[in-house]
Formats: sequence, structure tokens, C-alpha cells
Amino acid sequence: MVEANPPIDEIAKGVRMSIDSSDMAPAAALDTPEQISADDLVFDVSDLSVYYGDFRAVRDVNMLIKRKEITALIGPSGCGKSTVLRSFNRMNDLIPTARVEGDLLYRGVDLYDPRVDPVEVRRRIGMVFQKPNPFPKSIYDNVAYGPRVAGKKKGLDDVVESSLKKAALWDEVKDRLQESAIGMSGGQQQRLSIARAIASDPEVLLMDEPCSALDPIATARIEELMAELKDEYTILIVTHNMQQAARVSDRTAFFSVQVDEANDRRTGLLVEYTNTEKLFSNPDDERTENYITGRFG
Ligand SMILES: Nc1ncnc2c1ncn2[C@@H]1O[C@H](COP(=O)(O)OP(=O)(O)O)[C@@H](O)[C@H]1O
Ligand SMILES: [Mg+2]
Repeated sequence: MVEANPPIDEIAKGVRMSIDSSDMAPAAALDTPEQISADDLVFDVSDLSVYYGDFRAVRDVNMLIKRKEITALIGPSGCGKSTVLRSFNRMNDLIPTARVEGDLLYRGVDLYDPRVDPVEVRRRIGMVFQKPNPFPKSIYDNVAYGPRVAGKKKGLDDVVESSLKKAALWDEVKDRLQESAIGMSGGQQQRLSIARAIASDPEVLLMDEPCSALDPIATARIEELMAELKDEYTILIVTHNMQQAARVSDRTAFFSVQVDEANDRRTGLLVEYTNTEKLFSNPDDERTENYITGRFG
């Protein structure tokens, strides 16, 4: 069976910071000044900017992310959605010029503290990419990959089965687990990517446009699956599809781009972050209004 997450302190011994409720006032990021209990607060992002070299790609990111909710990141191409998403599990570390400024706390731990182990971060905060990326291995080996790398030898069959079940793929593949994953349909491959992330027993799943390479039927299956996964996981999804954000998410963050006339540089910024229903029906910011009504974008 999948083991429960070890205590957070195993990511970074002694790095834990106290979260006192007075620090939580920036719950203003949500439209109702909700008090989020420490248990429910997964990420606390304040004044985050992400740079590539000297270029500030995105700024002003302030978000509180609640447990077992789906948060959508939307906005025009180039506004920094992927950049921000990758900062949530230190995937930007793999880009040599990338660096962050500001604070990104995961369960009270500064994810960018030098004592934090990025490998453990990526196990707890899994990622699913735009293009399904199965390894040229069997279906079984794809799902067992993460646990094996983590040194798990016993109970792999159970992990593979439960992960494929949670990813709504088990019934389709249970009789061909030893076949190559490369022969699967795009929608199946994307559910396999989800199963592979789940097999490492994460708390959070980051998804970067997970449906953009899929047909409408496969897309609908992933959306249904997300609604199921929400019972167990906290999900952040980047999507260029506003209808998808409206359908699947609890909260939405709208990013836009500001052009600096002096040097023609484009910087992304977080414009508005609130309940999905409010963002799409009664946004506070005119830029959000223009985007969702199609006047810009
Ligand atoms: N690896 C990189 N190196 C340099 N600039 C990058 C890199 N990745 C993205 N950018 C730039 O950062 C900005 C935000 O990109 P991105 O996060 O991909 O936006 P989105 O996902 O919203 O389309 C863009 O100006 C893009 O050109
Ligand atoms: Mg992107």
C-alpha cells in the first residue's frame, strides 16, 4: 500500500517556520477574507517574481493555495503561467538562468531554502506536462518508476494498481501492464502520466495544459478525473482554455502581460486571484473583465 506522507520536516530538517494566524491576513487574495487554518494552507506565495537572467518574466504573484482545491492559472500566452507553475516544485531549477525572488512557502517551509531537497520537493509536488511523456518502457515500469527510484522494492504491484485506479486507467490496461506505454492513445498516455505522478504519493499535482494535445473526449475524461482527484490531492492547473478553468477549478488566478515601451520587454504579472465563480462573473479588475469577455487576449 501507499504509505502516508512522512512529516514535512523530513524535506528540510529544522527549516519549518511558524505560521501565525496574523500572518494570514493576505487571505485578501481570496474575495472573502477567509481564515485558512494551518492544516488547509498548502502554499503561501508572497511577492514572488521569477527571472531568466536579467529578464523578469513574471512579478506580483501573491497566492494562498488551499488543500484539496483546484486552482487554475489563466492568461494570454507568455504571461508566465508555466514559469510560475514550475516554481511550485522547483522545476525551474533545471533552467540554469532561472531564479526566484520573494517567498514561496510550502506547508510553512521556504521551498527555496538551500537546505531543502529539490528531489523530495518534486516527489511531494508532482508534475504533469502538456505533452504526455511516457518512458519507452512498459506501462507497469512507467508507474513503478518513481517508487523504484525512491528505493521501494516491496509492494510495487499494489502501488501500480492503486495509482492506475486513481488515474482511471486500470480497467483499460490491467491485462497489458507489460506492454509498451508508447502504444497507448494520447488520452491514455496523459492518464498514465498522472498515475506516474500519483505513484510517488504526492500531496500536490501541478498540471501544465494537460489537455492541450487531447481531443474533446479525452479532455472530458481528464476533467472528470480531476474532479475525483480533488478528494485526495491539491491541484494547480495551467490552461489556456477559460471554459476549462471555469468548469474544473475552485479558484482562478488571471495573469496578464505588461509591455515596457522603453525597451519593449514584456513582463507577466498576476492581476487577480479569487473564487472562480467570481472571477468569471464579477471580476474586480478591468483587465480581467476584458480578457474573459474576449476583448483582449
Ligand atoms: N527557459 C527560458 N528562458 C528564457 N526565457 C523564458 C524561458 N521560459 C520562458 N521564458 C519567457 O518567460 C516568459 C513567460 O513564459 P511562460 O511561463 O512560458 O508563459 P506562459 O506559460 O504563460 O505562456 C515569456 O516571455 C517567455 O519567453
Ligand atoms: Mg505555458
